Amino acid sequence: MAKGTFYVTTPIYYPSDKLHIGHAYTTVAADTIVKYKAMQGYETMFLTGSDEHGQKIQRKAQEAGKEPKQYVDEIVATFKSLWEKLGIDYDYFIRTTEERHKKVVQQIFQKLYDKGDIYKGKYEGWYCTPCETFWTERQLPDEEEKLCPDCGREVEWVEEKSYFFRLSKYADRLLKHIEENPHFIQPESRRNEMVSFIESGLEDLSVSRTTFDWGIPVPFDEEHVIYVWIDALSNYITAIGYETDEENFRKYWPADLHLVGKDILRFHTIIWPIVLMALDLPLPKQVFGHGWLLTKTGKMSKSKGNVVDPVILIEDFGVDAIRYYLLREVAFGADGAYSTEALIQRINSDLANDLGNLLNRTISMVNRYFDGVIPAPGPAEEVDLDLQNCAAGMLNKVEENMDALKFTVALEEFWTFVRRSNKYIDQTTPWILAKEEDKRERLGTVLYNLVEALRIIAGTLKPFMVETPYQMGEQLGIGKLIQETEWEDLREWGKVEAGVKVRKAEPIFPRIDLEEYFEKVEKRNEKETAVKAAAEEEVREEEMITFEEFSKIDIRVAEVLEAERIEGSDKLLKLQVDLGTEKRQLVAGIALHYQAEELVGKKILMLVNLKPARIFGVESNGMILAASNENGELVITTVDKDISNGSKVK
Ligand code: MSP
Repeated sequence: MAKGTFYVTTPIYYPSDKLHIGHAYTTVAADTIVKYKAMQGYETMFLTGSDEHGQKIQRKAQEAGKEPKQYVDEIVATFKSLWEKLGIDYDYFIRTTEERHKKVVQQIFQKLYDKGDIYKGKYEGWYCTPCETFWTERQLPDEEEKLCPDCGREVEWVEEKSYFFRLSKYADRLLKHIEENPHFIQPESRRNEMVSFIESGLEDLSVSRTTFDWGIPVPFDEEHVIYVWIDALSNYITAIGYETDEENFRKYWPADLHLVGKDILRFHTIIWPIVLMALDLPLPKQVFGHGWLLTKTGKMSKSKGNVVDPVILIEDFGVDAIRYYLLREVAFGADGAYSTEALIQRINSDLANDLGNLLNRTISMVNRYFDGVIPAPGPAEEVDLDLQNCAAGMLNKVEENMDALKFTVALEEFWTFVRRSNKYIDQTTPWILAKEEDKRERLGTVLYNLVEALRIIAGTLKPFMVETPYQMGEQLGIGKLIQETEWEDLREWGKVEAGVKVRKAEPIFPRIDLEEYFEKVEKRNEKETAVKAAAEEEVREEEMITFEEFSKIDIRVAEVLEAERIEGSDKLLKLQVDLGTEKRQLVAGIALHYQAEELVGKKILMLVNLKPARIFGVESNGMILAASNENGELVITTVDKDISNGSKVK
């Protein structure tokens, strides 16, 4: 009996690097909701994917010496393998490089252009290349030093032709929609943030680029590629057949839930709805912006070396412990810290102790007292009814909190029932009942109720965990029943059939010794460091060049005759130099460190046999040599004493 459809999406992740635990966080949450809705009888659609275009990816590929497509193919394979390891059941994995997506994005762009919502203009602004974001002067934190407000790196003044999307035209309509649909943006606090942002005035958005070409071309202007956000956001409709499979599209759109991190909530609650309005399409029912998963040392980043790799955690602790920890530890919506200590603590107390012991004790007693055969229950006593009521109450609370995406509270309520069931053992004292022949029926009732409680526990865990419910089912001899359990089956007490044989009890979550674990990690790290050092040594040797190779490099002393800034760039200077026998023009990226005037008359070192190139439209024949350090300081190389122009450096 299908209740209707339920369409959930995750962000599509950048294949610029391997994914970390923060990405896994969003996807596990989405997967859990989908599994829960499917159990409730909804026809679900779960979309995830990869956002493959843009300058950053193009550059990363270049650095790796690969074509962009080959580069992203390899990383996307690691995404898919991670999702498999995490038990993620997506229905479709969209890649923005796939033909259908590209074609429809072009159609969307064309439609918006034909409608007058996209127009051609010029962009001027401070551009942060790593973040691919333009900033206005007043958005920069410091007037002197021009640094990106997001990442703190240097921004660059850029002027370029660009297509613009009229966000401003739709601002009032969007505000009205947000007001009339209080659940559209969640959580509440983020909704207010977005409203103030819109109220402070929306500027039209630059939606094309000419500075790189790894993107979808603007269909009527080959010089431009469509900037990533229009390309990326459209995935939510191209993937389900917008303009290509109307039936499927109508079936699932509007999406029920876009799940995103708070970092990209603005794109999803302002730009995306406005694109949809301009296309005359309904808006998604809800966009939920969850918080950040941080580490003790702050935001995860490669340079800090604090990136937590979910694959290693799965190998060390198993997939369900990780899924559980992600959803249990931090209130969904708030920021929170990942820590291995807290993870181990959760495994030991909640999983091994509360859940593992309940299963273990129950199965052992059925084996011991009834030869492994689940007994039939007799009349219910008050304590039994209380257990049943507690199960029903728990299910109500889980439903209520799952609908509000409060995973933490849902799991807390669930665990109250697990503990309640453990307490039931202590209240009913089966080991005492077992000593009295006339209590045999009562003992049977108690054990039956425990197996039944465990059936409900395993069933309720199905959205959250991907192995444990089924392992529990196997051990209890009710594997098929658990497989087939729908949400409404959990509401019915007494579904386990008496007479079924249980198996031997095996611990589902072994306890972890914190110290032993950290010792193991340390040894592993030492080994990895040694392997890495050996590999680097090998590379160093491979990177050595011969004297013959060095002699190919022609470096000469050149005198700067003229120097001037290149319009439109704040980093580049155009130089005319004298090489003794000839004059040359070249472009140097040193304008942030040297004024044009101070270079004139200087004798500098220059690589003269470099292939000519055009930089910012200016011909460059050679390269001036300079030294720079990791603080971004840069000095040009000059000669120690005067020597004639054109002298060769050897
Ligand atoms: N490609 C864009 C999204 C386009 S969606 C149309 C992008 N990709 S991303 O690879 O940077 O992934 C961003 C998402 O990953 C965040 O919105 C968030 O959902 C998740 N997270 C990445 N790091 C995270 C944490 N440290 N903590 C929690 N979630 C984080 O932005």
